[in-house]
Amino acid sequence: MDHFNYKDGELYAENLKVSDLARQYGTPLYIYSKATLTRHMKAFEDALQGKKHLICYAVKANSNLTLLSLMKSLGAGFDVVSEGELRRVLKVGADPKKIIFSGVGKTREELELAVKTGIGCINIESEPEFELLSEVCRELKLEVKAALRVNPDVDAKTHPSISTGLKSNKFGLSPDAAFELYQRMAADPYVQVSGIDCHIGSQMTSGAPIAEATEKLLTLYGRLEEAEIFVDHIDIGGGLGVTYNDETPPSPYEYMAAVLKRVGERDVAIYVEPGRAMVANAGILAARVLYLKKTEAKNFCIVDTGMSDLIRPALYNSWMNIIECNKREGDKTVYDVVGPICESDDFLGKERKLNVQQGDFIAVRGAGAYGFAMASNYNARRLPCEILVDGDKVEVIRRRQEFEELWQDEALLSFD
Ligand code: LLP
Repeated sequence: MDHFNYKDGELYAENLKVSDLARQYGTPLYIYSKATLTRHMKAFEDALQGKKHLICYAVKANSNLTLLSLMKSLGAGFDVVSEGELRRVLKVGADPKKIIFSGVGKTREELELAVKTGIGCINIESEPEFELLSEVCRELKLEVKAALRVNPDVDAKTHPSISTGLKSNKFGLSPDAAFELYQRMAADPYVQVSGIDCHIGSQMTSGAPIAEATEKLLTLYGRLEEAEIFVDHIDIGGGLGVTYNDETPPSPYEYMAAVLKRVGERDVAIYVEPGRAMVANAGILAARVLYLKKTEAKNFCIVDTGMSDLIRPALYNSWMNIIECNKREGDKTVYDVVGPICESDDFLGKERKLNVQQGDFIAVRGAGAYGFAMASNYNARRLPCEILVDGDKVEVIRRRQEFEELWQDEALLSFD
């Protein structure tokens, strides 16, 4: 459940009319709901009640500083995958001990910063990464906690582009390779064994794959125990899906229950790295209808946002719900909803039934995750404005980019 609902045919973000916000702040406009985000965080907290745990919000889904600050105030830790993300969460004053660092290609500079920061855990994905981390720690004379990301070879049954736990993927180490590396790590004076980590994919709409992955991690946990190598946490990654269309993903409670049931009484904390489930449905992208264009083949609803602001439909053929901000009486027409960008793949949705007129506002639901975070300046378009609604209050949490900012980092050599 989110806080974007209709009242008398008008779409509201909490207590504010979306079309008023669109008029006031301009379009394209990302609108987030504080109550929805808060509710999602609470759902994960409730699901993990009674078990030691850390909810590390996956910053990549949406890294706006205000949203990070909100997540921090709700007790979240953070999962970061780059120096930029690490610096973002430090900027909002995150407790370093509640930050974990994932990613298959961390640089020496990134590892150095993480170690100096006193980060909670580094999720190592390969033997050479372990060796580099050990070298960095030795040079800095600092210890660090680490986990190995295990690739459990489990099919997450999701879109192939966002499936990460198959042995053909670049991520993680096989359980056998991890077992070997844990032994080296246990003997290392600086890199301390802290956890077992995995992340098998995103937008998972069933609890079965994570249950299967958990079992594989627990088998490794048992082998490590026998070898007298002890971990303090098991990190099951992110991946819980959301409803974009007619998907029926488990609730955070059901999802975590599938994990907790298997972990049982073992004395380990559970870490989880949700991104999408936390923010997707806490955000919409509002846009204005520029033109309605009828051709022999199709009806096009041309709007003022597209793949530069929201690339998921173009990149993954993702189905995202497009709705009218004010419902009109009368028949709907079938449209391809497309953007202004000069690419045929610049669409938000195909064959959607809408009753809209030129100048109306539409909203793409579920746009809070991997929306703004993947936006670009393609076609020299400015990055959109982002606002946060809290009841009947609203704050601009990122102003619309200025045109000058599009070229401010460039040199202008003259050849006249
Ligand atoms: N942890 C790790 C190590 C990850 O790689 C990811 C996402 C997450 C956590 C968070 O996963 P989530 O809870 O959001 O499913 N751009 C794609 C999604 C890419 C996900 C990449 N990794 C999309 O728009 O669908």
